[in-house]
Amino acid sequence: MSINRRQALGQIIKLTGAAAAGSMTVNSSVFAADAAPVAPWDGTALEYVQLDPAAVARKAFLAGKGCMNEVFSSIVESLAETAGNDQQQWANIPTAMARYGWAGILGEGTTCGNINATGMFLNMVKVPGFNGDKAVSTSLMSKIGNYYEQTPLPNNDEAFLKAALGDDYSDTWFAENVGEQTVAESMLCHASLTTWAKHNGKVMSEKGPRCTLLSASIAYFIVQTLNQALAGELDPDTLPQATSNTATCQSCHSTSFRPAMVKTNMECDTCHGSHF
Ligand code: HEC
Ligand code: HEC
Repeated sequence: MSINRRQALGQIIKLTGAAAAGSMTVNSSVFAADAAPVAPWDGTALEYVQLDPAAVARKAFLAGKGCMNEVFSSIVESLAETAGNDQQQWANIPTAMARYGWAGILGEGTTCGNINATGMFLNMVKVPGFNGDKAVSTSLMSKIGNYYEQTPLPNNDEAFLKAALGDDYSDTWFAENVGEQTVAESMLCHASLTTWAKHNGKVMSEKGPRCTLLSASIAYFIVQTLNQALAGELDPDTLPQATSNTATCQSCHSTSFRPAMVKTNMECDTCHGSHF
């Protein structure tokens, strides 16, 4: 006789409950009395507490399961391990959902998992004193997106490398495993990765250490940025949404400029060049 999913789940809950209570007679109501179940996340922004960027970078470097998971799980799990008003809620987030983002969404080379993770995380986090009870969302998304797009990466600052690599650190690790830093000039996995590979004479199968360190770099930067927001060092109303180049194009090509309205903060020049 076969059982359906709901029955199967009931069996699993009973077995887990029995194991936890050391008895074969418990049911799920006894289970509930032990620890009140935390409701699934309902979209209300959860509070950020200060984290150590170096420790989060290390966690990201070790996390595996793809670049989106490395960034998302390292930050969320650090919040789950740190005392704060929403610690229990953070612990209840199923970070494994971020595993779909590897290599630009299930290997398609589209949006880099680092960017995808940044968006998923910023949409669920609030920073006391930064912008009230709303998720920080777009103001910081642009800052982190621009950093990913326009900065030579992965980060090769010595203190960062020592933290991220732990015992694997050596003076030559970066040169041997990554080569030289590259500027992605794009938020696409494909452009980021191929630019790096071409510049360094590498093949795709060698991307592991570079991409893992890139995840650690972005996790580090996100935490650094949120710490600044928490310390009152960033003003959400004056943060630039784009680089100055892009802002020049946007001065005409706004979301309402006809006939050529534009809605993006990506660097225009990557694809278009300029018509001046
Ligand atoms: C002073 C206003 C202004 C600025 C600044 C500006 N554009 Fe334009 N852009 C226009 C106008 C007007 C058109 C023509 C729209 C039409 O007639 O189709 C246009 C058209 C375009 C087109 C459509 C194809 C073409 O070449 O005609 C692209 C692409 C474009 N702009 C990209 C950019 C980029 C990239 C920047 C920044 C480097 C930029 N624009 C800055 C006013 C501007
Ligand atoms: C990832 C590549 C990419 C980036 C980055 C990008 N665009 Fe585009 N854009 C395109 C493509 C592809 C089209 C549609 C094909 C075309 O018309 O060239 C397009 C269309 C346009 C058009 C309409 C073109 C027309 O012929 O009417 C304008 C204007 C434009 N983009 C401006 C911008 C501006 C301004 C930015 C930066 C804020 C920007 N784009 C960033 C790829 C890009």
